[in-house]
Amino acid sequence: MKALVLCGGSGSRLRPITHTMAKQLVPIANKPVLFYGLEAISDAGIQDVGIVVGETAVEIREAVGDGSRWGLNVTYVTQEEPLGLAHAVLVSEGFLGDDDFVMYLGDNLIKDGIAGFVDQFRFNKPNSEILLAHVSMPELFGVAELEGDKVVRLVEKPSEPASDLALVGVYMFDHNVMDAVKAIKPSNRGELEITDAIQWLIDQGLNVDPHVINGWWKDTGRLEDMLEANRIVLETLEPRIDGQVDGDSEIHGRVVVEEGASIINSTVRGPAIIGERTRVENSFIGPFTSVYFDVLITGSEVEHSIILENSAITGIPGRIEGSLIGQNVQVGRSSVKPSAFRFMLGDNSRVGIP
Ligand code: TTP
Repeated sequence: MKALVLCGGSGSRLRPITHTMAKQLVPIANKPVLFYGLEAISDAGIQDVGIVVGETAVEIREAVGDGSRWGLNVTYVTQEEPLGLAHAVLVSEGFLGDDDFVMYLGDNLIKDGIAGFVDQFRFNKPNSEILLAHVSMPELFGVAELEGDKVVRLVEKPSEPASDLALVGVYMFDHNVMDAVKAIKPSNRGELEITDAIQWLIDQGLNVDPHVINGWWKDTGRLEDMLEANRIVLETLEPRIDGQVDGDSEIHGRVVVEEGASIINSTVRGPAIIGERTRVENSFIGPFTSVYFDVLITGSEVEHSIILENSAITGIPGRIEGSLIGQNVQVGRSSVKPSAFRFMLGDNSRVGIP
């Protein structure tokens, strides 16, 4: 059994962050989201992993390497253009051969991992098994219609959903999926859709089994989902102080202060994580905040946010909340007259001012 992890795509919903970084490498609780998936694959007893890469290939390779850190043997597969999830399977034919595989979307997080799902597939040996979760607004998702314990239809964003079971970004296939991805045609948005490939399998009379999960899962493709995933993962943090906290500071709740970080005359109210060599001075870090490494926060208040490496937040009068701040960003006060807001923002940036 192999795994195919999808790390191509255009990440348009997370611009401008994705102008300069792969969305699969945005950290959740200070760990790249992709690493949670690789851990889950390793925990399911799979070693041979193909990672489909596109524009951000160099970055993904640098972060993951040969996969030996997770006991994995990683092969990289280049997808020249992000032409859809089924297209990613098509370009991976050389790597997959005739083997069974689990396909994992590199920006998805599943609390309980995938070992139970993989075991069920190994035991029941259907042609495909899809991971489903109950959701409150199925009309926003790909929705599965079941008859007994079989999937009979998949509908993308149905106006009248037949169930509340949405497709989660993990799928299992045997070799038949290769015929499916070759047979289907691009959708209206010009992509080869994995839902069409699975529907093709069903239409050929092949077995597609559902596996419904009860734990949470998140597709971190949008800012709100990324913050929510960060919130949920931080809640499970094991508190640990490896950095410096001075006598004028207070640490409350689940907080990790990494080695080389310093907290000076500040309050950190968990769950929160402060990365290596980050300095927090005269500031308040509120719940559900992840601050990555080499960041400077002085005279400011931040909560429910993710701050990436090498950024600085200095002397901001109001509280920063619900924000994703990229790498090397500077947010600060300016003494230049006339007194005014001064921005240098990348394309597709968003700024909210009260
Ligand atoms: P999506 O989030 O569906 O697509 P996207 O990355 O293009 O993002 P957006 O909609 O914001 O533009 O992709 C899910 C995962 O699959 C993600 O990790 C990227 C990956 N992917 C590929 O590897 N190849 C592809 O052709 C596509 C569409 C996605």
